[in-house]
Amino acid sequence: MRILSGVQSSGNLHLGNYYGAIRQFVELQHEGESLYFIADLHAMTTVREPEILRASVLETALAFLSLGLDPARAILFRQSDIPEIPELYWILGTVVPLSHLERATSFKDKVARGITSDFGLFAYPVLMAADILLYGSDLVPVGRDQNQHVEFARDWATKFNVAFVPGYDPADPQGSAGHPPGILKLPQARIQESTAVVPGIDGQKMSKSYGNAIDLFASDAEIKKRIMSIKTDSTPVDVPKPTENSALYQLLKLLAPEGEFVQIDRSWKQGGTGYGDYKKRLLDLFHAQFDPARKKHQQLLEDQAEVERVLSWGAKRARQIAAPIIEEVRRATGLRR
Ligand code: ADP
Ligand code: TRP
Repeated sequence: MRILSGVQSSGNLHLGNYYGAIRQFVELQHEGESLYFIADLHAMTTVREPEILRASVLETALAFLSLGLDPARAILFRQSDIPEIPELYWILGTVVPLSHLERATSFKDKVARGITSDFGLFAYPVLMAADILLYGSDLVPVGRDQNQHVEFARDWATKFNVAFVPGYDPADPQGSAGHPPGILKLPQARIQESTAVVPGIDGQKMSKSYGNAIDLFASDAEIKKRIMSIKTDSTPVDVPKPTENSALYQLLKLLAPEGEFVQIDRSWKQGGTGYGDYKKRLLDLFHAQFDPARKKHQQLLEDQAEVERVLSWGAKRARQIAAPIIEEVRRATGLRR
């Protein structure tokens, strides 16, 4: 089974990103041949500063590598290192109905949020379909908001196969009933329901745009400051604490090992421990959980050549997987003999 997903890099990663997304990617590397890439071409639809684009690509690669992605097991690469991507993007574009792009919900959302509606943003789903189809991906883990894009990739793969594979039957895409199989394989989305919404220090959903995030790789002092300023109510020390709407309680639940959380939960509901003590406990748990990754992150930051090596090796392997597929595409369309 081939698993593929892309991450559009955007700034510093926080606890929400880890528990909502990255952790699942890292776990999936044990379930099949996984390819993960940093979608820098997609990022260009919103980032215009070269320095910011460069820094966020590096940051995403560092995050994956320090949080447990094993480059000997999973293929990690940068989208723009694969020249076959823009090629397939164009070819696919010739079978994409305009009406599909016009009903793309993420396009409409982005325009509503004030992102400039240029051709790149409009054609974003075609580039994403090329990402998926170029490697014959079986499974695409994504958030719910990306499901429509994976559906598009399935539709357009079918359109391509119908147009260029003589005798192809959309009802028999793999050719198991005697028809010729498609050149482009139909992918399946795997919707990652984020375990829960991770709350930020103000109790709202943690998000880099709300200024309420606990960043994974911030300095020790900054982490301490953030955790100590988690919003709590004025329940006195000896009184049982409410669990509802308590960001501190939810974060403890997320970070504490199960056995330990049972104790925390008991004392929380009994009273006798102050919020300040719970915050100190959370700080310790954060460090116990993330210090190995934070150390690795620092090492890689000082050895960026190593990160480059991983990415170029990843690109090489990804292109090897893509080669027979793009060759068939070129032949079937008449671009090559
Ligand atoms: P942000 O809201 O900080 O801009 P992104 O939109 O870039 O984060 O999210 C990247 C990934 O992290 C997505 O898959 C998203 O579902 C996940 N994620 C972000 N914030 C949270 C959160 N507070 N709780 C759970 N998952 C989250
Ligand atoms: N659009 C995806 C997102 O914003 C990122 C992405 C680009 C992607 N290409 C992909 C995800 C291919 C899965 C497969 O999250």
